[in-house]
Amino acid sequence: MPDWHQVYEYLQPKMPVFCPEEPSLTQKVFLRTYALEALFGGAAGGGKSSALLMSALQYCDIPNYSAIIFRRTYADLALPGAIMDRFINWMAPHDDVRWNANNYTAVFPSGARISFGYLNNSQDYLRYKGAEFQFVGMDEATEIREADYRYMFSRLRRPASGPLSQVPLRMRSACNPAPNWVRQRFIVEGAEKGRIFVPSRLADNPGIDADSYRMALQALDPVERRRLEEGDWWATTLGTMFSRESVVLIDNDELPPITSVARAVRFWDLAATEPSQSNPDPDWTVGTLMLFDGGVAYVLDVKRARLRGEKVEQFIGQTAYEDGRTVAIRMEQEPGSSGKALVDQYARYVLSGFDFAGIRSTGDKITRARPFAAAIANGNVRCLRGAWLTDWLDEMSSFPESCDHDDQVDSAVGAFTHLTGLGLPQRKRIGIVI
Ligand SMILES: Nc1ncnc2c1ncn2[C@@H]1O[C@H](COP(=O)(O)OP(=O)(O)O)[C@@H](O)[C@H]1O
Ligand SMILES: [Mg+2]
Repeated sequence: MPDWHQVYEYLQPKMPVFCPEEPSLTQKVFLRTYALEALFGGAAGGGKSSALLMSALQYCDIPNYSAIIFRRTYADLALPGAIMDRFINWMAPHDDVRWNANNYTAVFPSGARISFGYLNNSQDYLRYKGAEFQFVGMDEATEIREADYRYMFSRLRRPASGPLSQVPLRMRSACNPAPNWVRQRFIVEGAEKGRIFVPSRLADNPGIDADSYRMALQALDPVERRRLEEGDWWATTLGTMFSRESVVLIDNDELPPITSVARAVRFWDLAATEPSQSNPDPDWTVGTLMLFDGGVAYVLDVKRARLRGEKVEQFIGQTAYEDGRTVAIRMEQEPGSSGKALVDQYARYVLSGFDFAGIRSTGDKITRARPFAAAIANGNVRCLRGAWLTDWLDEMSSFPESCDHDDQVDSAVGAFTHLTGLGLPQRKRIGIVI
């Protein structure tokens, strides 16, 4: 007969101190998670931000415990009702908790600290270079850069002995669904990598009037509503050209033997801007590796990056060496003499010795994409599973109406057009019947 009291004790998390809200069951699950990395993600109003505060507060009775909670910008952090404001309200009744508004830090009677910070510019992380925390929380993690998120692992430390050595090191995030790195990290790769995902649902939060909240969400567009109301990570705005379901996904061992007439190309669509404060979401440089054999196009790999000029050259040069000399390289050539000069430069200095040429595109993007869309609809495009696939399918299935970027579409269409001759003016086709 198990000792139920002991079982119950085991299932209970260590409860937060100085916390006015009683954790809901899902919040308790989040608090009970001692894995290094966990995400509380999903529907808005599910109590995610509160759960982050609660988990930071779990060890505030331990001397020298140090926790920090980030949002992307200072404005996000300090907004009335946002996470830091809520925390200040929570601490207000406790005279023995000292709040320092200059460095956004609360000091507890034990000497433990909870701080707040932001990671807006790409240099902001440097402020935390010498710091040590046992808890790092990221609220609205999908707004935070993945590089900053990863950097913060290096700040998770604790001494080898003493009470603090017993405190788990924790990286905790909370956010609504969005199709970006957070989804890849937790929803796609999470289970395999030991990253815990706790789904947030509106109905689980005892502190909110779910019905009136749902009413408020009705004003949103359908995709945003599915994300915020149902916590759906896969809701995307659909474009009318490519349907996600028609893309055939295959694993490495499902690739057929390659015949002697197969042709392969790495097709590049260039961009040369790094993200910056004034331009946080510039276009991508994208290179699609496609193989065409037996009437089927195989998308084998998609490389993409947002880099400045000479780094783009390195990126493309390196990829060429990895692909090998049997793979042709083509590049979309911008109109005019500067486009020609750029292609010449690549031919001479970056890709000499490779089968390389610039391709001038004709007609509008949508017309150019049609043959590739038709091939997908007919089941004649197969994609090799890889880390690139989720983002790629998101972009393809939102094209052309609702995508922020279409560089991956352009690059894939460029590769397909080159390999099949489809989409070129009639006389240039190479004997392929649609
Ligand atoms: N366990 C709880 N008990 C009472 N109120 C809660 C609880 N969890 C969250 N709340 C309240 O519910 C509201 C929404 O929670 P919040 O953490 O902001 O949700 P989310 O970050 O998921 O959108 C807030 O007013 C919060 O204070
Ligand atoms: Mg929140």
